Amino acid sequence: MDKFIVTGEVQLKGNVRISGAKNAALPIMAATTLCSGTSVIHDVPDLSDIRNMIAILEHLGAKVSREGKDLIIDSSALNKVFIPEFLMREMRASIFLMGALVGRFKEVRLSYPGGCTIGPRPIDLHIKALEKLGANVKEKHGVIIAEAKKLSGAEIVLDFPSVGATENAMMSAVLANGITTIRNVAREPEIIDLETFLNKMGAKIYGAGTDTIFINGVQNLHATEHTVMPDRIEAGTFILAGAMSHGDVTITNISSNYLFSLLDKLSGIGAVLTFGNDFIRVKANQLHNTDIKTLPFPGFPTDLQAPMLSLLTMAKGTSIVTETIFENRFQHVDQLIRMGAKIRVEGRSAIVRGVNKLTGTIVEALDLRAGASLVLAALAAEGTSIIKQVNHIDRGYEMIEQKLQSLGAYIIRDME
Ligand code: UD1
Repeated sequence: MDKFIVTGEVQLKGNVRISGAKNAALPIMAATTLCSGTSVIHDVPDLSDIRNMIAILEHLGAKVSREGKDLIIDSSALNKVFIPEFLMREMRASIFLMGALVGRFKEVRLSYPGGCTIGPRPIDLHIKALEKLGANVKEKHGVIIAEAKKLSGAEIVLDFPSVGATENAMMSAVLANGITTIRNVAREPEIIDLETFLNKMGAKIYGAGTDTIFINGVQNLHATEHTVMPDRIEAGTFILAGAMSHGDVTITNISSNYLFSLLDKLSGIGAVLTFGNDFIRVKANQLHNTDIKTLPFPGFPTDLQAPMLSLLTMAKGTSIVTETIFENRFQHVDQLIRMGAKIRVEGRSAIVRGVNKLTGTIVEALDLRAGASLVLAALAAEGTSIIKQVNHIDRGYEMIEQKLQSLGAYIIRDME
């Protein structure tokens, strides 16, 4: 597995363009299976999770090609409703095919999805939503079988505003007969992007971005063209990298509307932020402590908890970081401690006492965002760090080392 070798204590300076959002592209790619025809999706990042989704679509019979940042997906010859375990286990987002394939073919067989080891991540809410629409869902020898004679509009109330369950329920309901109302949905911007894509396909959905989504079922959908929204988590990570390095970084292709909970925290601890229509500039010197609690959007995103915690290891004073979304999302803590951070985990909170310096050492990226947090720490640390298992980072950050190098960072990939 590849490693990053990072020499720290460089103030990052310059501009970097943010890629299209992985978490918007994945459900949109799954949604192309809802119709026959060729869809063109612009600004799809070239990431291992995206390549895994392409492999699933191709297995199902779709023809997929990439032209630069565009993906061209022809779903005319789609002829399978079974996804084998080796394709499902690569990532959590493979579960989107459950909603989409039942929506179109009224039938799907697949195993439990994989993904980062950040807690149990069950799919009970996805299944309950499908059942409400009339599907019969059962499990046999580890294979989930979902079937329906027909799907009918229904009133669905999610027990928790799960991002994936909201998106899956939307994809199952677009072709159901009648009206579906989904309450207590997640309000993440990626759900608005999926709504926009589905409506371009001919669906009748409104409400994404609020806590209730209304869907008026249609008979057919058609292929379409769409540009994926920018990746707010990649954007947040680069803003944090700029601030933690006491640098001056401008990120483009991003709106501050997606990131106000992070930006509010950062300006509160001493960072200087400037925004425009599609850029955010961050300048920082010594930062001070704050408390963070992850929450569904518009709260502080769980995907930025690890990079933010990394920044707080060198902020003046004691900070408390509380993770409420996932159970096992402090895998970066032990690694940061190896670099000299002072952190104590108590239940779902990490108590972070700011230190003057971190020191480069050998650490492991144990999941995607934990890996990103180690890159940030290594960039700020004294000396050289080796980050192992960067395949986790490659799942969610497109060309991260090239983008950081363009800001002046000393980071190289060592391929084994
Ligand atoms: C999505 C994002 C991920 C992000 C997360 C929370 C994608 C591809 N991934 O993941 O980057 O960290 O939102 O913002 O968009 N849960 C259940 N039952 C279910 C579904 C979820 O109990 O059926 C629980 C999960 O275990 C977790 C919480 O709900 O504790 C949030 O999960 P969810 O919002 O579903 O996250 P994902 O859609 O998996």
